[in-house]
Amino acid sequence: TNTPTALIMIFGATGDLAHRKLFPSLYRLYKKGRLTDRFAVLGVARRSLTLEEFQESVRKSIVEFTGEQDGLDEFASHFYYQSHDVTDSSSYIQLRELANKLDEHYGLEGNRLFYLAMAPEFFGTIGDHLKLDGLTDTAGYKRLVIEKPFGHDFESAQELNNRLRQAFSEEEIYRIDHYLGKAMVQNIQVIRFANALFEPLWNNRYISNIQVTSSETLGVEERGRYYEKSGALRDMVQNHMLQMVALLAMEPPIKLNTEEIRSEKVRALRSLRPMSQDEVNQYFVRGQYDEGTINGESVPGYRTEPMVDPESNTETYVAGKLVIDNFRWAGVPFYIRTGKRLGSKSTKIVVQFKDIPMNLYYNTDEKLTPNLLVIHIQPEEGVTLHLNAKKSGSGMKTTPVRLSTASKSIDRMNTPEAYEKLLYDSMRGDATNFTHWDEVALSWKFVDAISAVWENTKETTFPNYAAGSDGPQVADQLLEKDGFEWWPVE
Ligand code: BG6
Repeated sequence: TNTPTALIMIFGATGDLAHRKLFPSLYRLYKKGRLTDRFAVLGVARRSLTLEEFQESVRKSIVEFTGEQDGLDEFASHFYYQSHDVTDSSSYIQLRELANKLDEHYGLEGNRLFYLAMAPEFFGTIGDHLKLDGLTDTAGYKRLVIEKPFGHDFESAQELNNRLRQAFSEEEIYRIDHYLGKAMVQNIQVIRFANALFEPLWNNRYISNIQVTSSETLGVEERGRYYEKSGALRDMVQNHMLQMVALLAMEPPIKLNTEEIRSEKVRALRSLRPMSQDEVNQYFVRGQYDEGTINGESVPGYRTEPMVDPESNTETYVAGKLVIDNFRWAGVPFYIRTGKRLGSKSTKIVVQFKDIPMNLYYNTDEKLTPNLLVIHIQPEEGVTLHLNAKKSGSGMKTTPVRLSTASKSIDRMNTPEAYEKLLYDSMRGDATNFTHWDEVALSWKFVDAISAVWENTKETTFPNYAAGSDGPQVADQLLEKDGFEWWPVE
């Protein structure tokens, strides 16, 4: 059926993610009839709250983040709470009893979703206890939904994975990368595999380079403690950026099922050329924001943000060139860049096609611009195709024209859309848009080579870009070396 039943146990139920994304997403699913009355949410966190207080916090989050309150009391009555000590067995035993009661009361058939939306240092401990104290011992399905960061590098990720695998099989682990829940990220494969116009051109004979940009205007906010140890490389590249690259680079899957799609993505990640220390310096650059102005407001530099070392070596910007060693992509660079405190909030993919063999229009004043396919991920969603056509009037002058489906969705950017899809998928048992362990492992190995170099060399030019700018100059030089430039993210 398409209306799954489940007990959803949220660890970290008093946290930001639960309030901003998870509760509103569940409410929307409920409103759409994608959750029947046969569901219960069991919120778990350290803080002691009464049931009334917890349900009130759920109602507040819905009103604040969805602007709606239709059926809200009924919805919130499905929420329960337990103040919990993640290291204490007796606390889990209580949790199990409550879970069993809810199961019976709502007819949940023993289906359980354990959602870890809290500090990653407890992921392993919680996994151990869920098994040890009998919570995974259930008649229905059991699934673990787990937020990033999945480890800090390959080794810690592997350790965490081995530990979780004591309690859950690979099929039961749903590793969240919320970019995979974005409508236009899901659209990449449709654009590629449902269009006769693109599929035959999607290779090194016709594509000159691919650029993936994710820029943010936000700074590090209150997350200095986490971000100091993470930086943009671990925070954005290891997961979101490499996932988009994998979707762009992968071979067509034999079928559109979870296993086939994920194994093609794994193959794409396996073809990423590993880098030596020298190559890291040649192919990757980093930046850190200084104070500056964004939308008319002056903002501080990274080094003066709360919980940040005044001499921090942490990068808030990364640009890099990825080389994919396979028949399809040999010779085609994939450029990626991402950073905080840039001039605009935008995620976009630009596919630049090669020049045609001979330019018949070279002596007009317009230079021929290459054909581009732009995939707008956010805030606009859609695609734009940049072509050349004849300028109106006499003569044979050319002018660039655009075919576009892109539209600015009414501030989709911060809505729980992606989470809504991912939550629904995890309840239906569709893991396609979650990352398989093999993808996580390969991404970490790739990124580890870069951090190994960066952590051992103090970047003396930091801070090297002003807040509100387009990022550091070194990012432009990276493409200039290859005779390319970044297409603007307007
Ligand atoms: C998260 C990072 O994974 O993605 C954040 O931890 C970042 O630092 C966020 O701001 C960006 O997501 P989005 O959906 O706003 O592009």
